[in-house]
Amino acid sequence: MSRDPDAGVQAIELPDGTSAWFVTGYQEARQALSDPRLSKVLKAEELGLDPELASAMLRMMLFLDPPDHTRLRRLISAAFTPRRVEALRPHIERIAAEMLDAVAGHETVDLVETFAYPLPLQVICELLGVPVEDRAEFRTWSAIVAAGPARRHEQPEALAKLLTRIRALLADRAARPGDDLLGDLLAVREEGDRLSEDELTSMVFMLVIAGHETTAHLIGSGVFVLLDDRDRWLRLRDEPELLPAAIEEFIRYEPPIAVTTQRTATEVVELGGQSIPAGSRVMVRLADANRDGTRFQDADEVRLQRAQNPHLGFGHGIHYCIGAPLARLQAQIAFTALMTRFPGLELAVPAGEVGWRSDFQRGVTRLPVRLRPA
Ligand code: HEM
Repeated sequence: MSRDPDAGVQAIELPDGTSAWFVTGYQEARQALSDPRLSKVLKAEELGLDPELASAMLRMMLFLDPPDHTRLRRLISAAFTPRRVEALRPHIERIAAEMLDAVAGHETVDLVETFAYPLPLQVICELLGVPVEDRAEFRTWSAIVAAGPARRHEQPEALAKLLTRIRALLADRAARPGDDLLGDLLAVREEGDRLSEDELTSMVFMLVIAGHETTAHLIGSGVFVLLDDRDRWLRLRDEPELLPAAIEEFIRYEPPIAVTTQRTATEVVELGGQSIPAGSRVMVRLADANRDGTRFQDADEVRLQRAQNPHLGFGHGIHYCIGAPLARLQAQIAFTALMTRFPGLELAVPAGEVGWRSDFQRGVTRLPVRLRPA
C-alpha cells in the first residue's frame, strides 16, 4: 500500500450522513494526538444513551481533557507503575500455564476462544476482584459496549448491567480492601477529596473495557502473523530474545485499536495541509499511520527485528495507553508459554479461513490451531 504523502488527512462522509476528518499519515497522527485543540470531551447526545448511562461513560478519563483528565490519570497511575505491573508476572504466568494445561489434550483448538480472550479477561478480572462466576457476563457485556455503533441497540442494557455489577463489587470490596489494583483504587478514594464513588465506578468500567479485548487481539493477531509464515514462528521460538521487538512489530502491523475514539476541534486546526473547521470530528487511524511508508521502511512487511519502531498502537500524548506495560507483559508471557508448551503449533485451517474483526478494533476472532502436529 503506497500512500500519497499529501493525503495524510481527509474529510470522509460516514454512512449516517455526517462527516469526520480521518487522519492517516504518521506525522499528522502524532500531531493530532498531542494537539490540545482537539478535545476528547464527548456530548451526551453523541452517545445516544440515557443520561445516567451516558454520564458513566463521560466520566472516564479517556473522554476528558485537562485538568479533569490530569487529575484522574495521576490518581490511577500509581497502580500501573512498572514495579506494580512486573510484580504480576508470576501470577499471570500461572494463569497462562493453567489455560494451556486445560487444552493440552486436544489436537485442534480455537486459540482465540481458549487462550487469547480468556487470559487478559482473567487478568483484568483478578486485578479488579471480579468473582469467577461473574466473568462470562463481564465478557459479554463489555464486548457489546466496546462494539461501538455496530451494537448500539444492545448497549443501554449491557451498560446498565455492567455498572450495577461494578457498583455491587465496589460496595462489597470497600469493607475488605486488598493488595490489588482495586485495593489501590479504593485506597486512593479514601485519601480525602480524591476519587468519588461515581468516578471509581467509571474507572473500573473503563479498565474492564480497555483492558481485555485489546490485549486479546494483540495475542491473537500476533500468533496469526507468526503461523501465517511459519518461518517467523520457528525463528522466534529459537531466538526468544527477539520477543520484545516482535511484540512491538505485531502492534505496529496489526494495531488492536485501529481507529482511536473521536476528537473534536475546538477551533480551526491546520493539519496535513488541511484546514479542519471548529466543531469537526477527527478520528486518527492508527492502522494507517503505522503503515506509513514515509516513516517505516517496508511498512507493509512484518520485520520481527525492526530496530526503530515508534508505532502509534498505544496512542500518543496525554491519553497514551496507561495499560501498555501490562499489555506488553501479558503478551510476553502468552507467547513464551505457547512457544515453550507447543513448539510445533500450526494453523489448522487455510489462512483465509481465519476470522477477523475489523471495525475500530482489529483482531482475530477465530484461530483454529493444531497443538501437536503429527
Ligand atoms: C488508552 C491501546 C491495553 C487501559 C489507549 C489508547 C490506545 C490504547 C490506542 C489511546 C486512545 C486515544 O488516544 O483515543 C491499547 C492496546 C492495548 C491496550 C493496543 C493492548 C495491546 C490496555 C490495558 C489497559 C488499558 C491492558 C488497562 C488494564 C487504557 C486506558 C486508556 C487507554 C485507561 C485511557 C488513557 C487516558 O485517557 O489517559 N489504549 N491499550 N489499555 N488504555 Fe489501552
